[in-house]
Amino acid sequence: MVFQERASRDRGVIQDNRLMELHLYPGNRCNRDCDFCTVFGSPKGWYHDYTSDHLDAVLRTVILHDLGAVKFYGGEPTLNADNVIWAIAYLRDHGFTGAIVIYSNGIQADRLLAILTSDPLGKTTASLNYSIATGDGAPQMPLTSLHKLEAYETAHPGAIAIGHPDIVDSGRGIDPFTGQESRPKASHQCPHCYPVLKTDGTVHACPFAVENPAPHFQLGDLSSDPEAIAQNFRAFFTWLEQVHEPYAIEHNLPACTVCGSHLDDLPTPQFLEPAASGTP
Ligand SMILES: C[S@@+](CC[C@H](N)C(=O)[O-])C[C@H]1O[C@@H](n2cnc3c(N)ncnc32)[C@H](O)[C@@H]1O
Ligand code: SF4
Ligand code: SF4
Repeated sequence: MVFQERASRDRGVIQDNRLMELHLYPGNRCNRDCDFCTVFGSPKGWYHDYTSDHLDAVLRTVILHDLGAVKFYGGEPTLNADNVIWAIAYLRDHGFTGAIVIYSNGIQADRLLAILTSDPLGKTTASLNYSIATGDGAPQMPLTSLHKLEAYETAHPGAIAIGHPDIVDSGRGIDPFTGQESRPKASHQCPHCYPVLKTDGTVHACPFAVENPAPHFQLGDLSSDPEAIAQNFRAFFTWLEQVHEPYAIEHNLPACTVCGSHLDDLPTPQFLEPAASGTP
């Protein structure tokens, strides 16, 4: 397989109250329903288009120059390819010059390639679902799709990466996972991801737990002051270090299991109040 893993970047970077990375999530509607899926992806999942209100909030929240990154996931972004292509054009028209990443299962390869080639700056790349690219833990994507994507990566090295093989206990989680035993699963330490703007208008602290409505994850909403979002993101990291990780170690639990099943035992992070109003 020609795809390489993408190098991981620094965690928790904030400059002038702007986050280095932001995930965008339009719901969990998907053309698959992987038995390990962290967001409960399914053809019956929910979905709302991105609008200019969402993207204006992105432009207020993320670093706009080359260091910044906006990451589209879901659900499956190729199911709403026209809206994703429109959103990329909107971000470029309004001054975002950073990287754009599309997390995709690659099944709709032509649509994925149309998204990548639509970027006028040529800085939109894809990250494929490891299980669906390899067939380890999920039915493999059609070989016609795989070969198209491999040919594109061969012609444009670095355009299409493969995701990490790790499986975390979030959403459908570890127990239903049918892939190789050797795939990494448990760690007491949270990977410290960047937050998510959801098309329901809320800002959630974790892309893996994005369907978990606990107050521990609520950083704000579309109307929030970007400074409040940045401050609440810092408060979430402090909580991870001072409350969440010590609990995971004390109870010998994987980090994501604590978020999935034990948050009732833990106080919420010290967010600005009210987190969602924009009036800290
Ligand atoms: C939720 S999917 C959404 C985008 C697209 N449908 C896909 O599968 O790539 C985004 C990424 O999360 C990964 N993922 C899903 N469930 C996971 C789990 N339990 N642990 C770790 N990664 C997971 C997928 O493999 C994929 O790389
Ligand atoms: S991991 Fe991706 S492809 Fe699989 S069900 Fe979840 S969203 Fe869909
Ligand atoms: S430990 Fe919690 S916050 Fe960290 S990735 Fe897992 S679910 Fe998300």
